[in-house]
Amino acid sequence: MKDARGLDVSANDPAAVAAADDFAARLLRLDQGVEGILEAAKRWPDTPIIQLYAAAFWLYGQTDGVRETAAAHLRACEVLAMNRRERALHRALALWHGNDNLYAVEALEAITAEWPGDLFTAKLAEFLYYVLGQQYMGPRFRAHIRRLEFAHAEDPDFLAMAAFASELCGDYGEAEARAERALGIAARNPWAQHALSHVLIRQGRVREGLARLESFLPLLATCGRPIHCHDAWHLALLYLEQLDVAAAMRVFRTHIWGITPDFVVEQLDAIALLWRIEMAGTPMDAQWPSIAEHVAARAGETFMPFMNAHYVYALARAGHGDALQAALARVRARSAADDEEAKRVWAPVGGAVIEAAAAFGAGDRARAAALLDPVMPVMTSIGGSDAQDDLFRQAYLRSLQAAGRHADAAAYFDRITAGKASTPLDRALAN
Ligand SMILES: [Fe+2]
Repeated sequence: MKDARGLDVSANDPAAVAAADDFAARLLRLDQGVEGILEAAKRWPDTPIIQLYAAAFWLYGQTDGVRETAAAHLRACEVLAMNRRERALHRALALWHGNDNLYAVEALEAITAEWPGDLFTAKLAEFLYYVLGQQYMGPRFRAHIRRLEFAHAEDPDFLAMAAFASELCGDYGEAEARAERALGIAARNPWAQHALSHVLIRQGRVREGLARLESFLPLLATCGRPIHCHDAWHLALLYLEQLDVAAAMRVFRTHIWGITPDFVVEQLDAIALLWRIEMAGTPMDAQWPSIAEHVAARAGETFMPFMNAHYVYALARAGHGDALQAALARVRARSAADDEEAKRVWAPVGGAVIEAAAAFGAGDRARAAALLDPVMPVMTSIGGSDAQDDLFRQAYLRSLQAAGRHADAAAYFDRITAGKASTPLDRALAN
């Protein structure tokens, strides 16, 4: 049978194909209801594309628990007759499951090279670029997108991805044009709104950004929880650019933290916002216990160093010394392992950034600065987007200042604020 994009699928029930199409469309739009694939997986246990999509659903969760559930769906496929594309997707998902992130993204790229109509697989690749460091992988992400443009040029979900790829490469004009074009085709597009918010914040267009992002909030609350949380996080960051901590915390309480506190995205966005507010000058002591309670058990799970760096800061700030040491021990073991991912990112850079985050959280800024000195040029490879990695740029700046290395701090500040309209936050961070 053929799916909605005309791709061959191994199925004999039109309702199963419709369920797979529904999941792919919701995931591409970051809409609510993606969990419908789990009911479909029970109803059609012998339909490979349904099992593959269910595995992908769980892999996005990025916890050891859901990783196990993803594995069950991948195993279920092994005894089913799959076509070539489904086998290739199975292999890519198995690599992702195994934390072989670079090989996983290569496998996904190979699928869209042969089947350029497969926009769902391009969406999976976009997430793997995030895991591998989205700014670090920006040129590769953009090349992937350009290769698919002929097949999807008027597709609003494609345009939202294309806008983000352009933004990550610093091409803000193209990013903004594509995001606006996507929103012109379909206003319900939180990923296009997201790309636009990246452009507005990176250029320091705070007032305009606040107006646009506030206007997006009602729609966002009806979209998938991860993007509702994350786009609200961008709005809170814009308030922080004005040093309006009260407004940032109103967004925090209403849209970011405490709605689905066991979702990784919500934990990371909450931690990053509070950490940034602290670096802007307002301690957030009262917030850390509830966050630490939700992250303590998973702080040693090693999917990408970006996540652990957030977790250990939260644990250090909450004074959870035992959980912090346990997490650091697992990070050290991950960094000392001899697989390719350990050698690619954990040993050369990730381990140091995580140790620095823990030291920074514990108040040892001079140690944080020394740990970050050699790794900052490749820091973006630990995962996260350009805007998310600004957290570590600010932490490095604050560490240099606290260590009394004022000339280094001033030079670094000039580098990270180049090309951005100066905001009250920038002026606060300069000292
Ligand atoms: Fe973002």
